[in-house]
Amino acid sequence: MAFRAVLAGCGNMAKGWLKAVTEAPELKGRIDIVGLVDIDLAAADRLRAEFGLGAATGTDLDAVLSATKPDLLFDVVVPSARRDVVLTGLRHRCHVLTEKPMAASLEQARELVGAAKSAGRIHAVVQNRRFVEGVRRIRETIASGALGELTALHADFFIGAHFGGFREAMDHVLLLDMSIHTLDAARFMAGLDPLAVYCLETNPRGSWYAHGAAANAIFEFANDVVFTYRGSWVAEGATTSWESAWRIIGTAGTLLWDGADSFQLKLVADDSGFLRPLKDAVVPPPPHPSQTHGHASVIADFLDAVESRQPPETAGSDNIKSLAMVFAAIESARTHQRVLIQA
Ligand SMILES: NC(=O)c1ccc[n+]([C@@H]2O[C@H](COP(=O)([O-])OP(=O)(O)OC[C@H]3O[C@@H](n4cnc5c(N)ncnc54)[C@H](O)[C@@H]3O)[C@@H](O)[C@H]2O)c1
Repeated sequence: MAFRAVLAGCGNMAKGWLKAVTEAPELKGRIDIVGLVDIDLAAADRLRAEFGLGAATGTDLDAVLSATKPDLLFDVVVPSARRDVVLTGLRHRCHVLTEKPMAASLEQARELVGAAKSAGRIHAVVQNRRFVEGVRRIRETIASGALGELTALHADFFIGAHFGGFREAMDHVLLLDMSIHTLDAARFMAGLDPLAVYCLETNPRGSWYAHGAAANAIFEFANDVVFTYRGSWVAEGATTSWESAWRIIGTAGTLLWDGADSFQLKLVADDSGFLRPLKDAVVPPPPHPSQTHGHASVIADFLDAVESRQPPETAGSDNIKSLAMVFAAIESARTHQRVLIQA
């Protein structure tokens, strides 16, 4: 039997969710969208018409949840509305899958993790950019030991993105709205906990954002592994992939990924010469290809968790570590000090 779901927040991203729900083979027939909620009723009605759904629409989440009694709440609202929406869903005993970032502050994230635990419901975050082939292949490469012992990860994110909307008005826009994907990917690839960060955040000359469109951060991970992040949303020209461009270094060599289809794995061939001779090696395929479909994979992982009562990969209780990286970077930028990362 299909899960009954209400989706709150009928803006741009909601279309991506509904496309995945209605078209992805791993989700087909598993979800019945019974309600669409937005503070702008016309947005909910438009979405219902666009996807030909029979869902109820409304502006009051509490009322729609009472009327439809769904198993699941899909939260796709703006970050500032997230806390109330998630708590309302948990109060109605829904399992909640929530867009990133999982909360507008670390305190709120802790509150939501606690509320989900008390309610005995699954609470997971759409960290879709770890469900892509390249990220999975890199994690597999690192875990295989091919690079020797991991020592460093470096990610570059440079895109001149003109969104309009809430992003251009929010504080710490790059760190809060986008960097979480890259920081979460680094934590996932390395399989290590983040310990501390030093970060310089700027709003470069000519920026069309109100605040924080660029950041340069140095993270300390466990095992003396360093992760650096250089990012800008106002870098016109020569853009990187949305997944960032990566250089990953181990004691046995280096792995480059352009964030799309190009990988180079160069390993030391023998220990002679000023610059050691290198050999090319093959980056292994993703261990589970079904985990490389972005939103569809995250939603499928969430449904599997609800069915099996096992924690999903992006459970709020784990994803809070990625959010803690973001807020520690923001705190470091504010104080110009190294900041410990504590979820
Ligand atoms: N995972 C990704 O790759 C990705 C990509 C883009 C956006 N997002 C995230 O998705 C979320 C939504 O972003 P978007 O681009 O769709 O924004 P958007 O502004 O296009 O849509 C948000 C919608 O939420 C509605 N809303 C606001 N407060 C509400 C409330 N209390 N109850 C019900 N509806 C409410 C707004 O009216 C709007 O229609 C954000 O958290 C954003 O960070 C994730």
